[in-house]
Amino acid sequence: MIDLRVQIGSLTLANPIMPGSGTFAETMAQVIDIDRLGALVTKTITPDVRHGNPQPRVTEVNGAMLSSIGIPSKGPEHYLREVVPFYGAYRPPLVASISAGTAEAFAALAARLSVPGVAAIEANISCPNLEANGRAFAMFPEDTEAVIRRIRGATALPLWAKLTPNVGDITVIARAAEAGGADALVVANALLGMAIDVESFRPRLGNLMGGVTGPAVRPVILRMVYQCARAVRLPIIGCGGVSDVNDAVEYMLAGATAVQVGTISFLHPTRIQL
Ligand SMILES: Cc1cc2nc3c(=O)[nH]c(=O)nc-3n(C[C@H](O)[C@H](O)[C@H](O)COP(=O)(O)O)c2cc1C
Repeated sequence: MIDLRVQIGSLTLANPIMPGSGTFAETMAQVIDIDRLGALVTKTITPDVRHGNPQPRVTEVNGAMLSSIGIPSKGPEHYLREVVPFYGAYRPPLVASISAGTAEAFAALAARLSVPGVAAIEANISCPNLEANGRAFAMFPEDTEAVIRRIRGATALPLWAKLTPNVGDITVIARAAEAGGADALVVANALLGMAIDVESFRPRLGNLMGGVTGPAVRPVILRMVYQCARAVRLPIIGCGGVSDVNDAVEYMLAGATAVQVGTISFLHPTRIQL
């Protein structure tokens, strides 16, 4: 057996491979051996119950997927009652991805989810900040630092900050997350994009714009991982277009300690198993 363990702050993972939030669910246990993953990351949990965006939510473009799901969420109580106990039967540590509209709501949700069975909190800060005209927290260093600091004060669990790639200089945001007290960075969420059907002249997503993910984004996100690795001391989890083990190695050569695997799981659900 080869020792593939990696260290993300105080958390030791058996290997560096884990799912990206929103691309994995309990039903994956029917097709893969969940114990072969380094960690488990939930779909983003929000404080309220949400139903998600209008259809169609997913479309395909060259080398990538374009999606706008809108974070449908059954809320934290469902998660605590059903999801945490389900994953408790498996070895990999469980990471709770969270999102909220204000720093205070983020902190309250982190505190609520800091229960036995949850090993770390991943703050999905690509969402609108309702106290700043709805601009995404992770697009501005001051909002990033403030929200991460607030969450940091609300939980003793390791805190991962998941950044958005939709910024001019991601190193500024990475440093802000580090200053706020993050233990690791997830680089990154989806690139903002859109597609129009030239037959119907209609947008191909119900929400008009969505996130571009999958193989085509890898060079862009890899570049950001490289830049962040030189800008901060935190471990970095690369996330964008990882489709096979070579892609994971490439991210690690750029400075990542681990990787998250997303879109490829829709095409090849078993690929995530090492
Ligand atoms: C269908 C879908 C749903 C997603 N839902 C979430 C989510 O709930 N929270 C989040 O932080 N990221 C979400 N993402 C983004 C992924 O976690 C990941 O950052 C992105 O897809 C890039 O990785 P990939 O190229 O391997 O897919 C979602 C992506 C897809 C394709």
